[in-house]
Amino acid sequence: MLGTVIKAIFAFAFISSTYILFGFVYQYYQRSLKFLRGPPRSSFLLGNDYELIHQEEVNIIETKWFNEYGTAFRASICYGEDSLMVADPRALQYVLHTSGYRFPKSIDAQQVTKMMFGRSIVWAEGEVHNRQRKALNPAFSATQLRQFLSLFQRSTARLANKWKEEQLVSSVVNVSQWLPKITLDVIGESAFDYKFGALDGHANELGEIFKHMFADSRLYPQTRIILFRAFRRSLPTPLANFLCRFPTKEETRFREFSDASKKVAKSVFRTAAQEANGQEDSKGSKDVLSVLLRSNSAEDPKKALDEDEVLSQMAAIMLAGHETTASTTAWLLFELTKSPKDQQRVYAEIRDVRARVGVGAELTEGLRLHPIVPNLFRQAASDDSIPLDFPIITESGEEISQIPVSKGQRIVLSIGVYNRLTQVWGDDANEWNPERFMIDSKKKTALGVYANLLTFRYIDNLQFLKVPVWRFAIMELQAILFGLLENFEFSPPPGGLNDIQRVPAGLMIPMKKNNWQEGVQMPLYIKARE
Ligand code: HEM
Ligand SMILES: *[C@@H]1O[C@H](CO)[C@@H](O)[C@H](O)[C@H]1NC(C)=O
Repeated sequence: MLGTVIKAIFAFAFISSTYILFGFVYQYYQRSLKFLRGPPRSSFLLGNDYELIHQEEVNIIETKWFNEYGTAFRASICYGEDSLMVADPRALQYVLHTSGYRFPKSIDAQQVTKMMFGRSIVWAEGEVHNRQRKALNPAFSATQLRQFLSLFQRSTARLANKWKEEQLVSSVVNVSQWLPKITLDVIGESAFDYKFGALDGHANELGEIFKHMFADSRLYPQTRIILFRAFRRSLPTPLANFLCRFPTKEETRFREFSDASKKVAKSVFRTAAQEANGQEDSKGSKDVLSVLLRSNSAEDPKKALDEDEVLSQMAAIMLAGHETTASTTAWLLFELTKSPKDQQRVYAEIRDVRARVGVGAELTEGLRLHPIVPNLFRQAASDDSIPLDFPIITESGEEISQIPVSKGQRIVLSIGVYNRLTQVWGDDANEWNPERFMIDSKKKTALGVYANLLTFRYIDNLQFLKVPVWRFAIMELQAILFGLLENFEFSPPPGGLNDIQRVPAGLMIPMKKNNWQEGVQMPLYIKARE
């Protein structure tokens, strides 16, 4: 009896490993990009994956390769697979926009976002994504946004007061410690009418987990984790889903986050749902959740979001809506601190037009130089051909401006590299120069939804939210920037800012060279304005 069981197990193991092996061989030949130029494979098993994942600063290695091979090239990744690396504007536009849903998020990116937020819009693709974005649409309306402006301003004023109360003025402040507190409070209140009380120091489970989400002591995955993930993403879906039940250490943290945020979401959700049912519109709460619930209950049940989907959107918005704006603000302050002339100009602008909500050139330039989501991972859903603005030379010396790709082809979209492409932005592409956005120069390309940038990936100018999320983000960034510069002048700390690195940790985070053990930090010296 036992013998039979053991034989069966062996047979199963043999069949499945043969199947997997054939799968890998098939994928190797089927999706070869050998006709493209690219760096030599540096490891048999890992390809170039290890060096790409373990680089000290965002996009350094890709940039070197893009300079060498043009705006698209081939990189080797785990198990002999090829990945298409893209920074070409036309190709980015095609993959993210023109093609609709033909280039969904890569399977491993989806696996991770599902662990973090569940079935949210950040994870969803195709029909599901389409249905979810329609449900979210009324929640971000123009009226909403106007109401949020005063919330953004109030929260920033509270932060400024806090710094004064805690006597942090005339000292070096780690702004990375403070900014996520107000952006978390803001997203809590605007999206869910919920008070996190992060700035007031109210400890909560969620806040604790947020702190460790990205910058844990072990920032970079070990070789075996990289290999495990690459293995998992190549398996047929049921097997892959099964393996996702055995998360890595880092993924366990993602799960904890998802559990904790859904728990918070659930209590907020219950209250909001009661209000939506009971008092109809009498309270008329304008937060995203209430609007979502009201429109959801009016929706055809087939199209409405189920409870778990609503909770997942909330978990996603809690994270996507607060870490992003906080880190972007830190990078903006970093640049304005290094360029006192521009800081002064922004301040003068604020004084002149206190209430005006425009988009400053400095803000735009900061978003260009520091896209906190520097790479997007996609996969071709069918055979396709990707057009290029800047033709490239193949291995055989031919010039091409279309790259044929097979179904399943993995693609990395380098937003960070595109945002600094000399072909698009000129010779000073790598430097801070807000003036480039002051002269109304028509660039060779027009893509993305905002200022020719892909920092906000959203394809929403045509098909996503009525009032896109990026407007929310821009308005919030501007309110924080204005509120802080109105009160304080920022200058470099005694040690200067040259040792601040842009560390790739999912989001791009600031850390001090050779001092990563101190965690995320953006130390700036603040002085009160007279
Ligand atoms: C400076 C601030 C921000 C930046 C740079 C940023 C950037 C991005 C990027 C690059 C993506 C695409 C990820 C992908 O396709 O794989 C994304 C998705 C998303 N972000 Fe943001 N974001 C910011 C602020 C916000 C805020 C404030 C919110 C919410 C209020 C938000 C909510 C979302 C949502 C819901 C998605 C998924 C959209 C979709 O799949 O269609 N983000 N963000
Ligand atoms: C700066 O703040 C972050 C976020 O709270 C914290 O993790 C880090 O340890 C702080 N760094 C320093 C040097 O104080």
